[in-house]
Amino acid sequence: MEIYDAIRERIGSEAIIGVKMNCDDFANEKGLTVSDSTKVAKMLQEKGIDFIEISGGGPEQDREIRKSRGRAEKDKDYSEATWGKHAEKFRESVPDLPLILVDGIRSRVTMDALLENNVVDFVSMSKPFIIEPDLVKLLKDGQDKSSCIDCGECISREYFAKMMLRCHYLYP
Ligand SMILES: Cc1cc2nc3c(=O)[nH]c(=O)nc-3n(C[C@H](O)[C@H](O)[C@H](O)COP(=O)(O)O)c2cc1C
Ligand code: SF4
Repeated sequence: MEIYDAIRERIGSEAIIGVKMNCDDFANEKGLTVSDSTKVAKMLQEKGIDFIEISGGGPEQDREIRKSRGRAEKDKDYSEATWGKHAEKFRESVPDLPLILVDGIRSRVTMDALLENNVVDFVSMSKPFIIEPDLVKLLKDGQDKSSCIDCGECISREYFAKMMLRCHYLYP
C-alpha cells in the first residue's frame, strides 16, 4: 500500500499502475492464501490500482499443496492454468478490476476459455515466449499450443542469470 501511494504521488493519476501479486504462497504453514490475497486485491482496488497480474508460489511452497489447490476443475476448459480457480475468486472479489493471469497457460483452448468465461481480461505467458518469441503469429497461423515442455531449464540454477536467456530444450 505504501509503495503504491509513493508511486502514485510521483507519477500522478493518469499513468497506469499495476501489480503482479501472489494469489497463494502454497506454504505448509502460514504464508498468504487466496482469502488473504483477494482482500489485498480489494484494498488495492480501493486505492486506485489499475490492474492485477495474478501469480503464485515462492520459496516456501510445497509442491503437493501447489498441485492440489488453485487449478480449476477438469471440466473447465482452463484447468491447464495453474491458478485458474484462484482467478475465479479474484474476479468475485474485484469484479471491475482488469485482471491478468500467468502460469501454465499453453494452449489456445485455455487462452480462449479464460477470456470467453470472463475469468480474466488478459492472459500472460513467460516460457512460451522464450521457446517461441513469435508465438502470437504461430497461434494466428493455426498452431494450437506452445511448444514449451516445462522442463524448467531456462530458469534453472545451472543457466539462469549465468548466460543469455534461451530455451535449453530446443538449443541444448
Ligand atoms: C527466465 C525467467 C525469468 C523470470 N523472471 C521473473 C522476474 O524477474 N519477476 C517475476 O515476477 N517473475 C519472473 N519469472 C516468472 C514469470 O514471469 C512467470 O510468472 C512464470 O514463468 C510462470 O509463467 P509461465 O508458465 O508462462 O512461464 C521469470 C520466469 C522465467 C522463465
Ligand atoms: S527451456 Fe524448457 S521450460 Fe524453458 S522455454 Fe524451453 S522447454 Fe520451456
